Amino acid sequence: MSQVDGAHGMSQVISAQEAIRQLRDGKVVAIPTETVYGLAASVGHPDALASIYTLKGRPKDNPMILHGASVEQLLPFVEGWSQVHQACADAFWPGPLTLILRASKQVPTIVTAGLDTVAIRVPNHPLALEILEHTGPLAAPSANLSGSPSATKASHVVDDFGDAVAVVDGDQAAIGLESTVVWAAGNEEGNEMDNGASSEWRVLRPGVIGADEIGDVAGVVVAGVSCQKDNEAPISPGTKYRHYTPKAEVRWMDVETAKALEELGQGTTLQLITVTKETNLWAKALQKRRSTLNHLHANSFQELAVNLYKWFRWADHHQNECIYIESFTPSSPLEESIHNRVNKAISTP
Ligand code: TXA
Ligand code: MG
Repeated sequence: MSQVDGAHGMSQVISAQEAIRQLRDGKVVAIPTETVYGLAASVGHPDALASIYTLKGRPKDNPMILHGASVEQLLPFVEGWSQVHQACADAFWPGPLTLILRASKQVPTIVTAGLDTVAIRVPNHPLALEILEHTGPLAAPSANLSGSPSATKASHVVDDFGDAVAVVDGDQAAIGLESTVVWAAGNEEGNEMDNGASSEWRVLRPGVIGADEIGDVAGVVVAGVSCQKDNEAPISPGTKYRHYTPKAEVRWMDVETAKALEELGQGTTLQLITVTKETNLWAKALQKRRSTLNHLHANSFQELAVNLYKWFRWADHHQNECIYIESFTPSSPLEESIHNRVNKAISTP
């Protein structure tokens, strides 16, 4: 056992071997993945699965993703696995893609929150794969308190759960944003496109793997997240909750806001996140005149994705009142995912 820096100081950082023992024993353990850390419990331990909800303060109607080391491990838990699903698995797993299929009888109700579908994913992290290989499928939502930004480092898990949860330190999450969640369970009532054709698959939560990329591989039409109407099934239960939310107020910074920022008094503590060279230079100059401005620059959107939740957490830790993020027009799945998460942090339920 070693230590991680965090608000709670000492905590349990355990090895993958110890995590395997504890998970088999019916304990909840936080494990690293390439997207964000997951709060995991074995699919064979109903009490542990239930305590994930309690630990997170998560509404019981929000289902969890079932993680496996391989397709083979996950197949007994789904119905209707086809060549199309297999093509996706071959192309994207292990990786940041979650597929929703009909659930088999083997899936405990607590995992699906009573739905007849189940979300599955093979994560791309050596420690996660090693653990899953030995424990079998693990249900795991993101390892953060409900309403907080997802954890992208072991210390974030410690900050949220203290000694209540042991964590396997797998370093900074390589991607930093949650997986793409795709409805791949076939047609459902109400899930028709405007032209009457059935949209078989659709993105319920955007991630770094985009709808077009999935569509190309699967050879099916994959509707983007923006095609989803509010009253339409299927809806990802999680999307109705306020997510990824720091305590500070989050705003996009456009030219107008930037002007207003220059005029703003020193009284308000701000975090300013920039992505372009020009705005970086402007922010550096502004910071010289403002002691209450914390400026952070990402050299690329990839770097922004990796750091976003860490910076949200930093702002709260330092009681920043506002977080300004340089606005941009998204032109890739990664950029759309960042936009989606920032907009979720901006909007209230
Ligand atoms: O990258 C990720 O997906 C991370 C890592 C740990 O794998 N996990 C994660 O889990 O983000 P969570 O629980 O924070 O988000 C899962 C999302 C939620 O919005 C949930 O409602 C949705 O997936 N979901 C899970 N099962 C579903 C189902 N059967 N039908 C529709 N949506 C589902
Ligand atoms: Mg989450």
